[in-house]
Amino acid sequence: MSKKVIVTGGAGFIGSHTVVELDKAGFTPVIVDNFCNSEKEVIARLSKLTSKPPTLHEVDCLDSDAMARVFEQEGDVYGLIHFAAHKAVGTSVEKPLMFYQNNIGSLVSVLEVMQKFDVRRFVFSSSCTVYGQPDSLPVTEQSPQKPAESPYGRTKQFCEQIILDHIATGLPLGAVTLRYFNPIGAHESSLIGELPIGTPENLIPYITQTAAGIREKLTIFGDDYDTPDGTAIRDYIHVVDLANAHVKSLEWIDSQTKKSFNEVFNVGTGRGSSVLEAVRAFEAATGAKLNYEIGPRRTGDVVETYASTEKSKKILGWTPERDLQTAMKDAYNWQLSLAKRELSSS
Ligand code: NAD
Ligand code: WQD
Repeated sequence: MSKKVIVTGGAGFIGSHTVVELDKAGFTPVIVDNFCNSEKEVIARLSKLTSKPPTLHEVDCLDSDAMARVFEQEGDVYGLIHFAAHKAVGTSVEKPLMFYQNNIGSLVSVLEVMQKFDVRRFVFSSSCTVYGQPDSLPVTEQSPQKPAESPYGRTKQFCEQIILDHIATGLPLGAVTLRYFNPIGAHESSLIGELPIGTPENLIPYITQTAAGIREKLTIFGDDYDTPDGTAIRDYIHVVDLANAHVKSLEWIDSQTKKSFNEVFNVGTGRGSSVLEAVRAFEAATGAKLNYEIGPRRTGDVVETYASTEKSKKILGWTPERDLQTAMKDAYNWQLSLAKRELSSS
């Protein structure tokens, strides 16, 4: 019997890659997306990567009635992965209410509809942003949460708490909260990838756009941190490896005998890379030379963070397979494919 998995935000960066991996693992992904931060064309592209075209419901997760209709139409739903959210940290400072409404509202709406239709497997997209600047490294799932640096970060902290409160009622629901570190890269086919709107806030899209000639140069935000080369350190995880962590999470939830639980897992590589190391990895992987300069620190940036992946390895049986250079190559090929698309449509 097909195991239907509703993927909210399934047209987005991480959601689309997860749709492909779910299909590969024998699940039937069903996309719910309102395309507020993605393109409809992704669905046709996904059809080239999946055994059959994924079903799409163009629905806003905030619309509880429309969500209930999705569950009615789909019938027996095996589980739900909730990606749908706003994610641009800078925008969250300018428009906090928009973030609280969408990120918290959509989670509440999704949990309600799951309860109504007795769907018992749930995976939630959280972020390493909930840890802030950790006191010690690597960051484990037990590391304390610091006050968030942005309204976006606060939405993830609130959402995690909402899931805990919901589970505490004892209802039959198995939940996994995945705290992603820095997702990067793209599918090796270059058919799907990240679509930053306007000037990218994140490092890797900024690098690939600079190398592709869209941006003049990368500004490295600070080289006077207390790190080996003075630039900040992050744990960059290939999006396909991250997508696989969702498949492993659903399988693990299914293997549990407990009825009501939430388990938190870090999803990173366990290895920290500095901004300069990321630039070097990009150059080595692509042969492109990157134009960059050193600028001032960015407000709110943590100095250094990387994951302990012991728990996800041991319990989920998940291990990342792709290194930083592979992620850089895939991200650049995706960027080049976007440029070709634009040329052919102009
Ligand atoms: P994305 O913007 O590419 O994808 C999100 C998708 O959700 C988009 O297709 C968007 O149209 C859709 N969406 C948003 N609100 C919706 C709503 N109310 N109803 C229906 N669809 C809606 O983002 P992403 O990078 O794929 O991130 C996915 C999830 O992972 C988010 O929850 C994000 O906060 C979390 N996350 C992302 C990162 C990262 O760096 N990309 C890191 C940690 C956590
Ligand atoms: C990485 C490093 C920058 C751009 C963000 C969100 C976080 C999470 C992951 C969702 C930092 C430096 C960047 C540039 C630079 N997302 N940089 N020049 O800051 O780890 O986290 O994405 O949950 O919530 O805040 O990622 O890619 O923005 O930056 O030097 O033009 O690259 O200072 O050290 P970050 P990032």
